[in-house]
Amino acid sequence: MRTHYCGSVTEALIDETITLCGWVDRRRDHGGVIFLDMRDREGIVQVVFDPDTEQAFALADKVRSEYVLKITGRVRARDEATVNPAMPTGKIEVLGKELELLSSAATPPFPLDAHQSVGEDVRLKYRYMDLRRPEMQKNLMMRARITSSIRRYLDDQDFLDIETPILTRATPEGARDYLVPSRTHGGKFFALPQSPQLFKQLLMVSGFDRYYQIARCFRDEDLRADRQPEFTQIDIETSFLQERDIMELTEGMVRSLFSEHLDVNLGDFPRMTWHEAMERFGSDKPDLRISLELVSIDDLMASVDFKVFSGPANDEAGRVAALKVVGGGSLSRKEIDDYTKYVSIYGAKGLAWIKVNKLADGVDGLQSPILKFMPEAVVNQLMERLDATDGDIIFFGADKRSIVNEALGALRLRVAEDLGLVQPGWAPLWVVDFPMFEEDGKGGLTPLHHPFTAPSCDVETLRDAPQHALSRAYDMVLNGSEIGGGSVRIHQQDMQQAVFDILGIDSEEASEKFGFLLDALKYGAPPHGGLAFGLDRLVMLMVGGQSIRDVIAFPKTQTAACVMTDAPGQVADQQLRDLSIRLRQSVAAPDSP
Ligand code: AMO
Ligand code: AMP
Repeated sequence: MRTHYCGSVTEALIDETITLCGWVDRRRDHGGVIFLDMRDREGIVQVVFDPDTEQAFALADKVRSEYVLKITGRVRARDEATVNPAMPTGKIEVLGKELELLSSAATPPFPLDAHQSVGEDVRLKYRYMDLRRPEMQKNLMMRARITSSIRRYLDDQDFLDIETPILTRATPEGARDYLVPSRTHGGKFFALPQSPQLFKQLLMVSGFDRYYQIARCFRDEDLRADRQPEFTQIDIETSFLQERDIMELTEGMVRSLFSEHLDVNLGDFPRMTWHEAMERFGSDKPDLRISLELVSIDDLMASVDFKVFSGPANDEAGRVAALKVVGGGSLSRKEIDDYTKYVSIYGAKGLAWIKVNKLADGVDGLQSPILKFMPEAVVNQLMERLDATDGDIIFFGADKRSIVNEALGALRLRVAEDLGLVQPGWAPLWVVDFPMFEEDGKGGLTPLHHPFTAPSCDVETLRDAPQHALSRAYDMVLNGSEIGGGSVRIHQQDMQQAVFDILGIDSEEASEKFGFLLDALKYGAPPHGGLAFGLDRLVMLMVGGQSIRDVIAFPKTQTAACVMTDAPGQVADQQLRDLSIRLRQSVAAPDSP
């Protein structure tokens, strides 16, 4: 129907007659001439109708925003005075000759250029309209191009794209499962995959030594800006490669994406141990664009007269740490109170602070609610260790190690954001040497990655001191966001058995849940390992989006629902009966709490 996209009409086409199809972005009547800004996925071009072309002019007079039109006209240069340098097509316009109305449109539920004034629920309810916005078009087109580059990169490296089931058994990645009732096996359920983890490992056992899949994953977990209940992974698995090879290969992929699509050279990614990341940044996904760091001061606080500090300082499982914020001395009492409230979300029981007003005046030059508890010598050592200068504020955390890390780690990000201390640019890194397990709070252990990750020690050492074992896992972090994670896997049955034992998964449960994997490990499993990227997160960062919803065509809301299709929805009684399901009364009633 058309010869060109609206957004791709350039000066090269001057004097040519072209045909465009698109939506009316804006219609302006300038006394005698009518201007239509016509929009399609490539952009916007201005079309002019004058009364000489009687029929087309009359129709142009009637069209409204979002009508769909087919227009034939001649491209001409704009007058010097009307050139619009802000528009890629701003040097030309199309003189409309013929106009055909392809579709009229009701008044849009919100003006596309005023999307910010309506709630996100309205935009999601009319998502097909929201997606017409140039920003969303740009995001989804970028996503498509990135996905296509990823395929090309992996295809060129001899990876095979192999699909794995969506209707499957639980795949443990630490979230709740989405379940699908089976009709043919009454009372039984499929689980949607949290990731293709087990299948990709089985594909290695089958000999497909380089696998990838752009895979949809499903996790019923609390949603945040960077989490959706269904999301997409670039899922990768290889055989006969060590972690350093896998990291090189996947780092190369991300580097080439940035260079191809953003003209950015990410360089070599630094590597940091998990332990160092937690000590210095209080996080396993440190944002290295921010220079603020946590500093341990347990030794200095071990004998102060302030139980809140000396307690954790003398406790193996405790930590006392300081976070110096250059220029933070100007924070008001109210701002400090707000930060105190903020860290309480992470379990911190308070937020002690010292303002450095005039270091030359010694203790008299400092201001703080906790100075009274500290001998002058300790204060001086503290100032020295933190390299404090006039105008700084120093925050303190004292508690269980994990609480201090989480609270000060989150405070670090928040303060940096508030005070404009986040450097522009890109800060990628690998985090390595994760612990195998962490405490689950119920006296047991839980895997930090997943239960198929190989430890970096042998079976006996692992069984003897599982809490000290490190894993062969690695995460790729970019600007404080975990964009990918993976590991070398266990490929021997005795090691897999040891991990299940440590996790308290007895042999009956192990064989019930993962019998097929344990079996497969008996029949010649190659050493293997891989990684999965969160495609949505990666694209979000690359387009500068605020939420992964900005790069997903039809995302779910914060309550894991789709307001456009009204999913999840109720189903007919007969359907439930076929599935051998009876609802409990309290949930069957539509409006019950
Ligand atoms: P993991 O659970 O770390 O590893 O997931 C890999 C990557 O997927 C992204 N991601 C998400 N993105 C959006 N919404 C979510 N709810 C969500 N959850 C995770 C993150 C994360 O880094 N099978 C292993 C990978 C492996 O070992 O190969 C796995 O799924 O960017
Ligand atoms: P208090 O003597 O309880 O008023 O506490 C003195 C200061 O220590 C206040 O600024 C509290 O916010 C702070 N504080 C209390 N508990 C902690 C903690 N666990 N970590 C850091 N600061 C704390």
